[in-house]
Parts: sequence; C-alpha cells; structure tokens
Amino acid sequence: MIAEKLDADLAPLNTFGLPARAARLLRVTTAEDARAVIEEQGENRIALVLGGGSNLVLRGGKLGTVLKVEIAGREKIGETHDAIVVEAGAGENWHDFVRWTLKQGWLGLENLTLIPGTVGAAPVQNIGAYGLEVGERIESVHALDMTSGEARVFDAAACRFGYRDSIFKREPGRWLVTSVRFRLPRVWLPRKTYKDIAEELTAQGIIVPTPLQLSDVVAAIRQRKLPDPAKLGSAGSFFKNPVVAADRCAALLAEHPTMPHYPQPDGSEKLAAGWLIDRCGWRGRRLGPVGCYENQALVLVNYGGAIGADVMRLADHIKLDVRARFGVELEPEPVFV
Ligand code: EPU
Repeated sequence: MIAEKLDADLAPLNTFGLPARAARLLRVTTAEDARAVIEEQGENRIALVLGGGSNLVLRGGKLGTVLKVEIAGREKIGETHDAIVVEAGAGENWHDFVRWTLKQGWLGLENLTLIPGTVGAAPVQNIGAYGLEVGERIESVHALDMTSGEARVFDAAACRFGYRDSIFKREPGRWLVTSVRFRLPRVWLPRKTYKDIAEELTAQGIIVPTPLQLSDVVAAIRQRKLPDPAKLGSAGSFFKNPVVAADRCAALLAEHPTMPHYPQPDGSEKLAAGWLIDRCGWRGRRLGPVGCYENQALVLVNYGGAIGADVMRLADHIKLDVRARFGVELEPEPVFV
C-alpha cells in the first residue's frame, strides 16, 4: 500500500524532534510499492528515505519527496548446521525484532537490545553496542537501486561493513533496504566482556547469563546512560569514536593517563569521544534548547523547540573544544539532511 500526505510535518518522524517538512510524504508497506515509487519519481530523486528517523539530523526547510519504509514481516527462512536464518522487513522495529528472536530461542542479537530505529536502518550504519556489531550477524541485505528500481541482494562481504559504516552509508541516496537476513548462531557464547556488562552482571550476581538475561542487562545499562527518545529528543551518539595512530594515543596517554583507549586490529587506537567531550566540561551543559546529555556526553539532546541550526552550533563548539584540548578531530555519526 502507498499512503500519500502532502506538506507533511517531519518533526514527529525523527527521534531528535527537529522540524522540517516534506512536500510529499509517501509510506510504503511492500518492496513492490517502494519500487513503484522509485520508478514513478524517475529523475526527481527521492529526497530522503526514512526508517525510524533515529540517526538523522534535519537541518530544516522543505524537502521534496520523502519515502517512509514500513515494510513488515519476520520469519525463519531456513537453517544450516551452525545457524538459523531469519528474515525481517526493513520497517520492523529493531528492538521488537531482537526480543522476538530471543523469545523464539534464536540467539545472537541480545547485545543490540533497545537500539532505536528499524531493521532496515541497522545495516546502513552497522549498528553496534556492547561488543557486537550487527554486520557480524547479517547473511544478506535486500535492497532496491534508487537510480533504477532494480532489486539487488548484498551478501555480508558486499555490504563492506566497518565501524558505523557500510556500502549503504558510503553511497548515500543510492540504496533502499527492503529486508535483511540474519544468521543467528546455534552455538551461543555470551558476549559479556564489555566493561559495563561485566559490572552489571557482577552487581546482579549473575555468572553465566541466559540470552534473555543478557538482553535485560543491556536494556538496564542503556536506560541508565542514554535518554529515552520518547521523552528527550536525540539521535543517539552524535560523534563516532575517533581512531588515532598508536604514537598519537601514547602522547595523549602521557598527559591523560586515565583516558580510555581501545587497540584496533591494525595497531591504531580508538578513543572514547564521550570521555574527550566530558573532559572538556560539556557533559550536562546546555546551549540554548540543546545540550550534552548528563549521563553520556556523546549524546546531544533537544530539550524542546530546537532546530537543526541549534544542534549544528553545539556540535561545532564541542568539536572546537576537543580539537583545542586534545588535538583530536570528531566526526558526526548521524546523517544530515
Ligand atoms: N565516558 C565518559 N564520559 C561520558 C561518556 C563516556 O567518561 O560522558 C567514558 C566511559 O566511562 C567509558 C568510555 O568513555 O570509559 C566509553 O563510554 P561508553 O562505554 O558509554 O561507550 P561509548 O564509546 O561512549 C559506544 C557507542 C554507543 C554504544 C556504546 C556501548 C559509538 C559512537 N557509540 O559509546 O552507541 O551504545 O559504545 O557499546 O560508538 C550509538 O551509536 O548511538 C550508541 C549509543
């Protein structure tokens, strides 16, 4: 089904709650309808494809045609000796999908509990949390080429997953994800070494968690550290964690011995943007209607009535301060439209 609304308000459709309008908002519930819209648009390219709107900063103004993907469906496709293969429509709510797999006894997505957004958006930015990136669990991504409407299947290698990165993010506006197939392992090992998880398990007296327990632990940590998008607008982490060369990290550590740093396979070091921003004194600070969340400096929040320019102004201040104090460049994580 294709539902059309003219001059639509986009504020309720992005978790930051930023204002913007669409000349035409189309909601599609099947891949065929998405394809029909792409073909009908032709040269008048679709301005924005929306999922849950949870990784988006709208700068404001009026966009042309916005396509909201509401393709539903989740089912087991098959199984192999080592995995269960499950497919879900791009419009499914991510967290509901994760909990549903766990209730079926299919394991492996529990660390990604409570991430806002949709199934279709998950591979685009390769969502990750608490020691797991979704790309590790993806068998294939089914997408439409927005230039031709043609359907294409990307296996995991073709998705070119990286840290908060994929081919879909690197080629903005080119691919519309319609469904995702997951490979959920039959042999399950809890991923529980991430500091917050280990601490929470100890606090709860759990030594070997069940998958549902691990999911509950992740939910508890997230609820403590991250704002509930239903109550306070945000787009999750606003900056990526910066990766620097080993010698640069060593120089920073000489001056800031407690700085968190995570060695990467290629010898470089990933730093914690939240820590850098916090040390610049931004955690809990406001600038007009926006600010840095009090429990996690990496998350910029909208206290009400913010526009895209307010967010950009705060982001620029933070970037300048982190550059001046640590000589590190921060790169935003959400998509700007
Ligand atoms: N820290 C501070 N102050 C802060 C925030 C963090 O000192 O205000 C320190 C923490 O104490 C810790 C370190 O920085 O030592 C890292 O913090 P945390 O474990 O909270 O994780 P993060 O690196 O800030 C990343 C992801 C989150 C994800 C968590 C858990 C990115 C950009 N963010 O945050 O993802 O939930 O790890 O895995 O990689 C998102 O992408 O929207 C998101 C929330």
